[in-house]
Amino acid sequence: MKHLKTAVLLAAVALAGPVLAHGDVKNPVVKMRHAAMKAIADNTKVLGEMAKGALPFDAAKAQEAAVAIAAQAAMTPAMFEDPSNTDPKSEALPAIWEDFADFTAKSDALVAAAEGVDTSTLDGVRAGLGQIGGACKACHSKYRE
Ligand code: HEC
Repeated sequence: MKHLKTAVLLAAVALAGPVLAHGDVKNPVVKMRHAAMKAIADNTKVLGEMAKGALPFDAAKAQEAAVAIAAQAAMTPAMFEDPSNTDPKSEALPAIWEDFADFTAKSDALVAAAEGVDTSTLDGVRAGLGQIGGACKACHSKYRE
């Protein structure tokens, strides 16, 4: 994936638009975290549906989804950096701030997984999806309620 850095920046700008409302969450940073996770999940779903044939394989769309995942994952640590941003509805565990370096490494692992997807073939998307799914799970199992 050449030119990924530029593409990531463009995607970040595009996605920085309206922050989605999430239930009764009041804290704006927590809202932003939820919106970022939702964007990550929505784009992972696009790859997932292509992988199982529910969506036709489309290399450009797969590339777009992978870039969006990488962009959101790259911004994740900054959104979690300040532990004073919290909300009763948040599922973020205090362990995040006990080992923020590891939390950051787990975000970086998702960036790497998303950047590593070979979006030129369906098999590449399938393999990449496995890597991406593993990165979600590695972080959630430790840092999400
Ligand atoms: C570096 C850690 C990390 C990674 C990697 C990560 N997540 Fe999350 N995710 C979290 C944390 C922490 C929360 C809880 C945030 C909160 O409730 O404040 C969360 C919450 C979520 C939510 C719920 C959002 C909401 O509105 O309540 C979804 C959906 C989600 N993640 C999907 C994913 C998917 C899909 C991936 C992988 C493609 C992924 N996440 C990767 C840390 C991570």
